[in-house]
Amino acid sequence: MSTIELPIPPGSPVGRLMVDGGDAVTISSNDRISVVGKTGSGKSYLARNLVWEPLDRVVFHDWKAQEHEELNAPVLSTLDQVHEALFAESEEERLYKFVYVPEAGEHGLEAWDELCRLVYEKGDFHLIGDEIKGIYQQGNSVRAISDHHEKILTRGRSRGVGMTNLSQRPKKIPMECMSEAEHTFAFRLNLADDRKRLGEIFGSEHEDRLREIDSHRFLYYRIGMDEPREAGPI
Ligand SMILES: Nc1ncnc2c1ncn2[C@@H]1O[C@H](COP(=O)(O)OP(=O)(O)O)[C@@H](O)[C@H]1O
Ligand SMILES: [Mg+2]
Repeated sequence: MSTIELPIPPGSPVGRLMVDGGDAVTISSNDRISVVGKTGSGKSYLARNLVWEPLDRVVFHDWKAQEHEELNAPVLSTLDQVHEALFAESEEERLYKFVYVPEAGEHGLEAWDELCRLVYEKGDFHLIGDEIKGIYQQGNSVRAISDHHEKILTRGRSRGVGMTNLSQRPKKIPMECMSEAEHTFAFRLNLADDRKRLGEIFGSEHEDRLREIDSHRFLYYRIGMDEPREAGPI
């Protein structure tokens, strides 16, 4: 298991290596992390720098093919390749850090569930799912969470499997992605419905803070904290 030391300074913007008066937050590779915020608010940047970079057993699901060029890792496009990367007999053929940019036929919920299954079965791994709204939104409604996605969220810890879920619309992904998370990073959200959802996680008295929070700053909340703390940019 790897851990990430994340300084969460109260108040003014600071770099992530400055701990000025803040508590150091430890994120473990088998934790669940929820990152939400409007487009351009800094979700992928945070996932890349705080989760992807320090981990050595991690797959980045780049649904929109927006991040892979920045990730400096092999890019796979089919589940067959992912299966091979995780379970190849010979050590040389295995990959421990790679990006999966699904080809057109693997954009749906079924393929997503299969990816979750493979990671869950592998064990001791971290899955980052960027823009998962694309997988779950169906018109005005949200599909139910897929079996193995739920399995990672509710039973992944004991297998050493953690997960980071990113979404621009918290209202358009299954609630479990947020309610099961030990760590929540909430950037600016323009829609009241989305802010309300975060209010359900850390208290409705804080949801309005997400309307005006500065660019690249966020509210950080860890299960058990009295209230979320404003921090960033990282
Ligand atoms: N903490 C930060 N410091 C500097 N630049 C940032 C930071 N967060 C995001 N950015 C920049 O802002 C832009 C949008 O960030 P991105 O992570 O892609 O947003 P999102 O994934 O929420 O749409 C990118 O060009 C990114 O490099
Ligand atoms: Mg992004």
